[in-house]
Parts: sequence; C-alpha cells; structure tokens
Amino acid sequence: MDTVLILDFGGQTCQLIARRLREVGVFTEIVAFDTPCTPELLKGVKGLIFSGSPYSVYEPEAPKVDPAYLEVGIPILGICYGFQLLTQTLGGKVKGQALKEYGRVPLRVLQPDPLFEAVGQGFQSWMSHGDSIEVLAPGFELVCESDHHPAAARHRSFKFWGIQFHPEVSHCEYGTLILSNFALGICGAKAEWSMDRYLELEGDKVKAQIGSRPVLLLISGGVDSTVAAVMLLKVLSPEQVHLMYIDTGLMRQGESKEVESILRTLGARYVHLVDAEERFLGALKGLEEPEAKRKAIGDTFIRVQEQEVALLNLSDYYLAQGTLYTDLIESGKGVGKKAKVIKSHHNVSSPLVEAKRRAGLIVEPLGMLYKDEVRLLGERLGLPESVIWRHPFPGPGLGIRILGEVTKDKCEILRQADGLYIVELKKRGLYRQIWQAFSVLLPVRSVGVTGDARDYGYVLALRAVTSKDGMTADVFDFPFKDLLEISSLITNQVKAVGRVTYDISSKPPSTIEWE
Ligand code: XMP
Repeated sequence: MDTVLILDFGGQTCQLIARRLREVGVFTEIVAFDTPCTPELLKGVKGLIFSGSPYSVYEPEAPKVDPAYLEVGIPILGICYGFQLLTQTLGGKVKGQALKEYGRVPLRVLQPDPLFEAVGQGFQSWMSHGDSIEVLAPGFELVCESDHHPAAARHRSFKFWGIQFHPEVSHCEYGTLILSNFALGICGAKAEWSMDRYLELEGDKVKAQIGSRPVLLLISGGVDSTVAAVMLLKVLSPEQVHLMYIDTGLMRQGESKEVESILRTLGARYVHLVDAEERFLGALKGLEEPEAKRKAIGDTFIRVQEQEVALLNLSDYYLAQGTLYTDLIESGKGVGKKAKVIKSHHNVSSPLVEAKRRAGLIVEPLGMLYKDEVRLLGERLGLPESVIWRHPFPGPGLGIRILGEVTKDKCEILRQADGLYIVELKKRGLYRQIWQAFSVLLPVRSVGVTGDARDYGYVLALRAVTSKDGMTADVFDFPFKDLLEISSLITNQVKAVGRVTYDISSKPPSTIEWE
C-alpha cells in the first residue's frame, strides 16, 4: 500500500501528522528518527516527513537522521525541527534562540507552489518554535513567510519542502489540505487507506501468522479487546478462537453478561467466563490505601490469569491482544524516545504476556489503528453502539471507585447507582457528549430524612469529564436540571445512598479517577 513514512524526532504533535493523513485516506507509519534507511523500510513509501522536536539542532544530543534518506529520490517534507534539520544538513543556517513564535501566526504565500495549492495568498498558521531559519540551504527558494521568519521553502530541483508551522494542529488553517497536497499531489500517493482494506490486509496477515493453531484473547469488556475478538472470529475458524473473560466482581452493571452475549451472537464458540469475584474481594479485604488496593488487584489478576489459562490445556497457542497503534509506538518501537513528556501507562503487563512476546507468539490485530479507527472497524464488523461508544473503564474497575475498603455490598450499591446514572445519560442524549462518566462511592455517610425518619446513608459522587485522551480533562458542563433529576432518582431508588454530589475538578490538578 502507498505509504507516507513519518520520522519522529520527538515532537508532541507527531502522531497528529499521521492521523491527518489517514483522514484523507493515505496510509502512514511513524518510525523513530534513527531508523536506518533500508530498501525494506521504503517498500511502498511515496513520501517522507521529518517531524518537529523539542530539541534545537545545536544541542549536543539533537536527533539526526540517516543521510541516505536524502539520496533515495522520495519527496521530503520537513516540519518545524524537520525543516531546520534539512536546512542545516544541506548547508543553510539555523538561528538559535531567534524571535519565538507560538500559537496563531499569519503567513503570506509568496508564489504558486504545489504544497499551497488552493490555499490562497495568506492564512493563519500555527507555530511553536524558538529556533528559525536564518539562511536557506543552497538550491532552496522561499515560498511563504511570516512577519519575522521564513515559513516555507522548497528546493528548485529536488522534491524537498520545509515548513516552520504545524499543519497537523487543528488550529492551523488549511493544515489538512497542505498535508494532503504533499501526500496526494507532490508524492502521488494513492488514497488507499480504508477500514475494508485494513480488514483484508490484516486478516490475511493474522491468518498467515497463526495458521491452524489456537489463539487466546483476554476480553476486558472494553471496545479494543471486543473489536479484536470479532476480528479474529471473522478471519479464523471459530474452533481456533478462545476468548477468556475474567469477571473480577468489580465490573459495571450488566457488563459481563452483555459482553458474553454479544460475543456469542458474533459466532464465538469458546467463551471462557471466569467468576473470580471471591478471589478479588478476598485479596481486597481490609485494604484501604489506594496503592495497596491497586497492587492487590493487579497481583490477583496475574494469578487468576495463570491458573485459568493453565486449566484450558492449550498447547503452542498464540496470545492475542487488543493493543492499539498508540500503545505500540509508545512502548515497543522506540518512537517518541526524544519526546520530553512521557505518557504514564496504567496497563499491567503480566508474565504470561511477556513470555509469549519473547516466544514471538503475540498477535495484535489492531496494532496499526488509532482509537477512533477501532470504533469505525467495530461498526464495520457489526458491533452495537453500546460497546463501540462505551466510556473507558480502568483495569482495577470499581475497586478504585469505592474509596476505602471494598466489599461486595458496596460493589452492589455502586453498580446500582452507576447503572441508573449511565442509563439516564443515554436517555437524555448526554452520554456521547461526555468522554467518561461514572460514580464514586465515598467512605462517608451523612444524615438525611426519609418519610419522618432519620436516615444515615452513603455519599455518592458523580463524575463526568470531557477529554481527548484522558491525559487532561475538563469538567462536563452538566445541565443543572438533568443533574437534579438524576440525583433525585438515585437517592430515591438506591436506599443506601443518602446524598449525591457532582465532582467539579478538572485534570490537572485532580485525576479523573478518585484513587
Ligand atoms: P486518571 O485517573 O489517571 O485516569 O486521570 C486517566 C484515564 O485512565 C484510566 N485509568 C486506568 N486505566 N488501568 C487502566 O486500564 C488503570 O489502572 C487506570 N487508572 C486510571 C481512567 O479511567 C481514565 O480514563
């Protein structure tokens, strides 16, 4: 498939470049900046993009690139640091600590250029740079400028372009158009990327990799593992696919049953449902401290997983995972290694996963997809909306939404209250506007009055946030009337809850979960 290869120099928005191009149908791959330029890597590659970076070209550890990329005759677009690196490498001059430009910066397009096709003579760009181009490299000519600095240049003979602004950021006017002018126009890449194509290619790959061996997938109830399961069922014979769902007793209302019934409807023959509630609640007994609870849940998960997988008696089997492209590039492939902020990972890797990885027996059928693409694939594969748009749910489940000690009774109370909350959000058309909503049971009781009697019930906190990726979050601007009605519904129907509050803290400084 025609591909645009992005070399990642650690820029914060590197992944957005890949997303924008996929949006216009061009397949993209991101590799670390120091990946050697080999014929194997360049198979199908029609264009190269050098990303931005937090470094200055003058810093001693500034990332450099294999010079062979400049010799292979493939069009190159340098973005921000990528432009500065191209300039420096080809004999121009970068000015360190120049006048900085951040945010929206108006630009003038000075002459017709295929990169700016249909952009017009001026537009609002988005900048984030300290260094800038002082002298263009020999053979380059200026195409676009800001009031202060060169903003874009092209080589007169080679297909090399450099831009100082960030077209991948949504605030950059014509950003997607400029990227697509590069990929489709200048590189001549075909827009071949679609979910159907992905299914076809990845399906063939999975089939070839697994052959007739068994494959085991642990289902969490979330969208990624469910889509991965359906994809395996689509391309392999149902006898090969073993799905295991560990019910920790810390799941949301109706979750376990719904997941099982969907998988069965979609043709799963072996759904191994493990009721591990007692093992998890046993491990949590007496624990109040958040980190101790998380550790107990993580350790129990690993133990239960090992015990239950051993009982299946599968030999020589593959382990499938619903890992996404973002997870892979952040961990395995070395991409992002020059990024200055490293995303924290919550997912526990178990000894089983590690052993299978070492043996080369891991299959990751969603490994080239972003989250929203997984949702699209889920729709294509016939999964219901309730699974595809389900809000994220943390591995430790309700265990970190019941503050203090976790007991079966408290799980029931929280499940019931949270179930009502979520159903109401859906009924009122609010669920899809919210990135994540849930309830938290506090280890506090307060006085109330029902009928003529005194009541002493739990306090429940409702949380609803908007976010892009969970790294930062804003409080959802909840319509007050809906909030009042939901609160009253919960206190009326869940006897043990005497008071409802709404959490109005953003992240940072708070986190999304309470523990
Ligand atoms: P925080 O609370 O850190 O949460 O702001 C950010 C996002 O991550 C989810 N989360 C977890 N997911 N295992 C997970 O798989 C965990 O231990 C975990 N802790 C938090 C949280 O629900 C939110 O979406």
